[in-house]
Amino acid sequence: MSVSDTPRAVDASVISLAHSLPKVSLHCHLIGTISATTLLELAAKHGVVMEGGRNADNLFDHDSYEDLGEFLRVLDVAGSVIRDVDDFHRVTYESLTQGGADHNVLYREIFLSPPGHAHSSYPTMLEGVVAGMRDARADTGIDSRLIVAINRERSAAEGLQLVEEVIANRIDEVVGIGLDYAEVNGPPEKFWKAYRRAAEAGLNRTAHSESGPPENIETILDLLGCSRIDHGYHVVEDPDITARCVAERVPFTCTPVSSDIGRYSGNGDGTHTKIAEMVDAGLCVTIDSDDPPMFGTDPSNDYLVLAKALGYGLDQLTAFTYNAIDAVWLDESDKQSLQTEATRRIAAIVEADTAAIP
Ligand code: ADE
Ligand code: ZN
Repeated sequence: MSVSDTPRAVDASVISLAHSLPKVSLHCHLIGTISATTLLELAAKHGVVMEGGRNADNLFDHDSYEDLGEFLRVLDVAGSVIRDVDDFHRVTYESLTQGGADHNVLYREIFLSPPGHAHSSYPTMLEGVVAGMRDARADTGIDSRLIVAINRERSAAEGLQLVEEVIANRIDEVVGIGLDYAEVNGPPEKFWKAYRRAAEAGLNRTAHSESGPPENIETILDLLGCSRIDHGYHVVEDPDITARCVAERVPFTCTPVSSDIGRYSGNGDGTHTKIAEMVDAGLCVTIDSDDPPMFGTDPSNDYLVLAKALGYGLDQLTAFTYNAIDAVWLDESDKQSLQTEATRRIAAIVEADTAAIP
């Protein structure tokens, strides 16, 4: 490979590299992928009036989120306007096409957060979302699966009830469960029964840990039996837990831009030093964009900000993609196909870039 992590990569061509690289998306919330335009159209359709007369230009005022909690209230509004089968179809389709395939995302495992859609039943959500997944795949080739997320700010009983509903409405597209919303308001151990039930039913498991402490990562691995950690930046504060996660190759789904704005990775200053520490420690880091329009980002941009801030070039950026392929919840043959396609696309990028070098 002629293109590597050299200063040459950190110039205008890195923008095109960040865009063209194949990506595998393991940390995007369906609600958080809705565009401002779609949100406003769905609000009008259902007669929901936006507070303060907000419009598409100022709806997602990401610089104003003082903390995760403030952002989550915006998410609540978005979830409340996605109601019927058509709405779920539209949001899923747009998320996977313009929000995914257009950024060379080959495969996405999407968080579906039923507690965030108070006006809809779980079967209604599934019907629209699965249709959106199917149509996006037919039109662009992007493949996808679903992770049903428990809202950790709600009760443990509600979490368990959601898992029972997932099991009662079992479909192949739903490959696992997750735990979202603010960690400070719902420690992982609170949901051990829901996770035990999911394990019994053969569902994969992951959980958010954005604010820590690092011991929560042990709880997520050992008590909840998770095979991935969402965010997990605080791991590097504990050398023993870090060493264990390196040895076990635990995947961390990091989201640079949303975490920086949410101020739980780094200091909100764009340096992304926590992610650099994780990479340098040898952890299995993957990159995604969480709630892209709401944080003014997209899958290409999250690769780009790391390239710019940390000098990462082709080698490290492709490592993020290969780490994500290792971490997917697909069967071995689908995983192998994904790996083959990613390798083919990366080889084409390298070949084109080599030809362009004088
Ligand atoms: N739901 C959507 N985005 C989230 C995040 N960054 N943390 C927790 N829950 C979320
Ligand atoms: Zn998230």
